[in-house]
Amino acid sequence: MEQKKLDVVLGLQWGDEGKGKVVDVLTPAYNVVARFQGGPNAGHSLVFDGDHFVLHTVPSGIFRKGTVNVIGNGVVIDPVILMEEISEIEKRGVDVSDKLLISKRAHLILPTHRALDAASESAMGKAKIGSTLKGIGPAYADKTGRNGLRVGDILQANFQALYESRKQRHLLLLQQYPAYESPFDFATYEQEWFQAVEQMKRFPFIDSEVYVNEALEKGVSILAEGAQGSLLDIDFGTYPYVTSSNTLSAGVCTGLGIAPSRVGRVYGIFKAYCTRVGSGPFPTELFDEDGERLRQIGHEFGATTGRPRRTGWLDMVALKYTVMMNGVTDLIMMKSDVLDEFDTIKVAVAYKEGNQTTDRFPYDGGKNVTPIYKEFPGWKTPLSDLRKYEDFPEAFKNYIAYIEAETKCRISIVSVGPDRDATVVR
Ligand code: GDP
Ligand code: IMO
Ligand code: MG
Repeated sequence: MEQKKLDVVLGLQWGDEGKGKVVDVLTPAYNVVARFQGGPNAGHSLVFDGDHFVLHTVPSGIFRKGTVNVIGNGVVIDPVILMEEISEIEKRGVDVSDKLLISKRAHLILPTHRALDAASESAMGKAKIGSTLKGIGPAYADKTGRNGLRVGDILQANFQALYESRKQRHLLLLQQYPAYESPFDFATYEQEWFQAVEQMKRFPFIDSEVYVNEALEKGVSILAEGAQGSLLDIDFGTYPYVTSSNTLSAGVCTGLGIAPSRVGRVYGIFKAYCTRVGSGPFPTELFDEDGERLRQIGHEFGATTGRPRRTGWLDMVALKYTVMMNGVTDLIMMKSDVLDEFDTIKVAVAYKEGNQTTDRFPYDGGKNVTPIYKEFPGWKTPLSDLRKYEDFPEAFKNYIAYIEAETKCRISIVSVGPDRDATVVR
């Protein structure tokens, strides 16, 4: 039998492209859904049967019958957030017990990681990253600094001592921030954290790299779910305004323990425009009425933090870069319906800096560039009720064709609303 390949869904912009919706839509075709990086900084929204759900750590295949969901080694887990999320899912009548597996090699976010994240951000003032304050940066820093605590350690007899040694180190580091005042009650959170760690033990802690490879060997189909977006990648994003993991398709190899030759289709998701939360360059950002319209019509407020998202036009310079870096095989365009009422739709085709023009994504993420736009006439037709590509208005088909020609990649799915059903597969 031919070796099965693993497919990947990931975001091509700055996150919040609609990965949760797409994973939920694609899950019926897969036996397993696996997260490979990031942590509870993610907020993945699912909308179905008139209900709305936001997932942070649990893979977005959890609501589909018969699908196994794996939290891979590349993920960082806050036990409190994970167990709260599981309790919310179970309130919806879903039995999570036999559907969720957790890698022993996934790292734990400690209460002191959360404190360090908050202290570091507040000390940076205006230069802050705009982190979600979930402790992501400090947890990954401890992972690469070889001071981390992993899920498998929970089962060690000396877990409490291992925890204490990390905590003491972190408390010393926190002394660097004398002005820091904790935004949460540390003692209460620490108590909840230990309770949640106990509750986590009801799930199998596994060698997920073995599970995933053996499953592929047996012909089991697996979908890997990315978090954040390609422009937030620690190596290739708009550094330092990035997250602390590899969000690109390369991250699936280290985040699940599979060889590059086992990666199959790479579904790259993008919005028909752009958004960003937190600080950092955003060349096509709009500060005018159009930007506000995108925010209001698209409900562009963070699923994890509730912060208003920055909004702007689609950026082909950035999109072509991330399509290349991920080896995207299929594009998926989201939130097309948000543009329904616009007379004119703009797309950045190049950047101008001084008297230089370039269509290459720059080292500094385009901090000082002015975008050069191509304009498209709007379709001025509601897309949300349409379910067939043939029924799309010509102006919208032209927009799709233009993006396909520029990226040399087919748009195989178009999303026209938040609901599972508002999806057009070509
Ligand atoms: P993720 O982090 O990539 O999973 O994306 P988020 O869930 O943070 O943000 C996407 C938001 O857009 C959510 O509120 C979704 O319900 C919503 N959404 C997804 N697809 C569409 C779409 O095609 N049209 C509209 N109007 N909303 C969508
Ligand atoms: P999903 O998976 C959008 C952003 C934060 C901040 C930077 C670093 O829902 O698309 P961190 O907490 O990781 O240290 O924050 O990254 N960020 C996201 N933006 N969507 C996300 O996840 C994000 N996760 C982190 O706003 O700018
Ligand atoms: Mg999100």
